[in-house]
Amino acid sequence: MVNRKLTCEEQEQFDLLLRNYRQHEKIQEMKCYIQHGAISTYDHVERVARLCFLLNRRLRLGADEKALVTGAFMHDFYLYDWHENDRSHRLHGYHHPDTSCRNAVLYFQVGEHIQQMIRSHMWPLTLTKLPLSREAWILCLVDKYISTAETFAMRKRG
Ligand SMILES: [Fe+2]
Ligand SMILES: [Fe+2]
Repeated sequence: MVNRKLTCEEQEQFDLLLRNYRQHEKIQEMKCYIQHGAISTYDHVERVARLCFLLNRRLRLGADEKALVTGAFMHDFYLYDWHENDRSHRLHGYHHPDTSCRNAVLYFQVGEHIQQMIRSHMWPLTLTKLPLSREAWILCLVDKYISTAETFAMRKRG
């Protein structure tokens, strides 16, 4: 069983990887949108980034830590409430990876590697957008795990 608590040193390194992003107003805006249940999109991407970071270290997966944490932190950077009944939110599952990717480029000029991670995180729903790197696979799997856990926690609370 993997210990899911970061050590103080790991926490510091994790925070360092996100230091250029956390305070940005557009990143902060993710706190205004609900992802699952009572979990904001900001809390969700933080959880996903944290677990990606931790598993990469504990299981020695050999992923590029900076790319992994950055891509994970921006994977749901779409900046709207997908629960609102709005035409533009239709097919959210299919379209939000591209919207998040556009925002990551617009506000942080992320490179192609991170763009590909973000665009492919919903695979296999987005069938043609297969994860192409170790970092993209880790993100894709960890996001599914965290999203399922958040959804079940929400149902339990009722
Ligand atoms: Fe997503
Ligand atoms: Fe997600």
